[in-house]
Amino acid sequence: MARKNLLSIADLASEDISRLLGRARELKQGKPGQHLNGMVLALLFEKPSLRTKVSFDVAMRRLGGHSVYLAQNEVGLGKREPVADVARVLSRYVNGMAVRTFSQALVEDLARYGSVPVINALTDQEHPCQALADMMTIGEKRGGLKGVNLAYVGDGNNVAHSLMLASALTGVNFRLAFPRGYEPQTEIVDRARAFAAKSGSDIKLTQDPQGAVAGADVVYTDVWTSMGQEAESDLRRKVFAPYQVNRKLMALAKKDAIFMHPLPAHAGEEIEAGLLDTPQSAVFDQAENRLHVQMALLEELLGPSPERG
Ligand code: NVA
Repeated sequence: MARKNLLSIADLASEDISRLLGRARELKQGKPGQHLNGMVLALLFEKPSLRTKVSFDVAMRRLGGHSVYLAQNEVGLGKREPVADVARVLSRYVNGMAVRTFSQALVEDLARYGSVPVINALTDQEHPCQALADMMTIGEKRGGLKGVNLAYVGDGNNVAHSLMLASALTGVNFRLAFPRGYEPQTEIVDRARAFAAKSGSDIKLTQDPQGAVAGADVVYTDVWTSMGQEAESDLRRKVFAPYQVNRKLMALAKKDAIFMHPLPAHAGEEIEAGLLDTPQSAVFDQAENRLHVQMALLEELLGPSPERG
């Protein structure tokens, strides 16, 4: 791994992703973790969390360390105290930081000023830990990644960004169907296309959810209103209505296609009620795999390694 941080999924090369997923599979089978004895991970969160908070905490405990949760109302990142100072103070106490913020620049600043590894635990731009868990889940369900057809239907948001980049790095064909005005960022698409040219993956952007899902191995969606966008939720419910993932849409995918969602899900909005409970749903495997991939990641970033000594 070139950097000691994970700020974007694109900080990883395809070999890094394969290695991390391989280690995550071993850890899932109960192989002992490399102990992070006595190590501490700060969980610095500006937004709510269930999966990320608990999976990072449990991952640290299983590796022999622990975590300390710091909510924004206590820390006042960038308000009560400058980001550079928070980064430098925490670096004197803890061995790493998993950070959930609105702005990507804030996570990057923590990494710039701090001296311990920083992990992006979701920003408005990316959700790299989710993308790692998603790739692990797709690999388990489809027997590999290369040539798998993934259709993402919905907002061109943080989850879509990391998933597109991860797909492009690993040879997964990625189709994104979104309403006009809710496209992914151009720089991310350009970056994904550059990776795809090397891996042989095919990246397609469209406004047509039916066309995107036709013949897909994986159908993926995320909330229409991400954290921080609550004021737009009425408008978004209208704009995204034709992009709901329901049984009718799933019927266009391959017969054995799986359904994925990073959760929390809103039945009646981006998914039809009951979809999480169908045999096609892989969402709880995705949630579980957050734990395994993050253990593998923490071992690499925080633990002793040949390069880091
Ligand atoms: N796009 C969602 C993902 C939550 C895991 C959000 O940012 O709120």
